Amino acid sequence: MQEEFDERFVTSTKLDLDGEENSLRPKSFDEYVGQQKIKNNLKVFIEASKKRGEALDHVLLYGPPGLGKTTLSHIIANELGVQLRITSGPAIERAADLAAILTNLNENDVLFVDEIHRLNRAVEEVLYPAMEDFALDIVIGKGPSARSMRLSLPHFTLIGATTRAGMLTGPLRDRFGVICRLELYSPDDLAQIIRRSASILDITVDEKACLNIAGRSRGTPRIANRLLKRVSDFAIVMGKSGITNDIANHALQHLEVDSLGLDYTDRKVLDAIITKFNGGPVGLETIAAATNEEGVTIEDVVEPFLIQLGFISRTPRGRIALPAAYKHLNLPISEAAQNQLSIFDKVSNDE
Ligand SMILES: Nc1ncnc2c1ncn2[C@@H]1O[C@H](COP(=O)(O)OP(=O)(O)OP(=O)(O)O)[C@@H](O)[C@H]1O
Ligand SMILES: [Mg+2]
Repeated sequence: MQEEFDERFVTSTKLDLDGEENSLRPKSFDEYVGQQKIKNNLKVFIEASKKRGEALDHVLLYGPPGLGKTTLSHIIANELGVQLRITSGPAIERAADLAAILTNLNENDVLFVDEIHRLNRAVEEVLYPAMEDFALDIVIGKGPSARSMRLSLPHFTLIGATTRAGMLTGPLRDRFGVICRLELYSPDDLAQIIRRSASILDITVDEKACLNIAGRSRGTPRIANRLLKRVSDFAIVMGKSGITNDIANHALQHLEVDSLGLDYTDRKVLDAIITKFNGGPVGLETIAAATNEEGVTIEDVVEPFLIQLGFISRTPRGRIALPAAYKHLNLPISEAAQNQLSIFDKVSNDE
């Protein structure tokens, strides 16, 4: 099932075909499009830390895949003028692995831990004093003669990235001084990203085509870049020197990306909620079973966009399809579904 998901074309998770992602990665805040609030705040914190000559406070970046968390961590290290060390939660298997990484950092360096929600317990315990006191507690010897010693570490900035802030333990989350939630991008921001990438990749794309691709990129820069490249493939094979709106439409139709950027999986999930479960509310795992998708995929990748479009909503009793979803799929709202929607409206109005 995982494989099937990886083949999904408009998935926001990284695929092999994103190989040259690095060349498109913005290197400074000026090149990093959108996320204005986060950028403004980070700029202040970075400047302050430089003026104080201290390490920047630990930063947690969270949000759906492909929104620019890894990119942002590179930019932060760049702007601070320090080294960036990159690792990930699952890569740090033992406490000793983390100890080795930490003791090798230079003063004020940035340590980037991707998928930080996947750190194991023993490793996390080592991280707490490291983050808080820049100290490493180690036990020397075994049995009754064992004693514990505290080593001091260089001051560093931990940047943690996760798609699932909800899975972080409380004590870990509390140790981040700066918490940034990345939002899905507006079509205007995505169009700007596409223009920038097109010029780096030497692809000519007219303005209408650019807005068209932007509007179908699920609010995600990684998908915008990928669609640009695939549409460009179509243009090349058709013997055209640039991407016009007609070519974009033609290519996107072949890629099964609809007018709003929904793909086969999105439509399958919506269709299941509406036709199999009468519009909901229905639990995540039930939807997963009915669609043959992983629950986490639906939660991390499919849902955020459908929620942003106002197609579904999360209720305490499960997911419910909203009228806009019926309209987009051209399906009638059944009487039972209408009743559920009225209850949902009433509850949300009371809140
Ligand atoms: N604000 C932005 N401006 C321009 N391009 C961006 C921006 N954010 C992301 N990108 C592009 O999207 C690609 C994916 O971004 P990135 O790898 O940082 O996402 P991520 O949030 O770390 O994803 P994941 O959760 O899968 O690790 C980058 O290579 C970059 O080209
Ligand atoms: Mg990343």
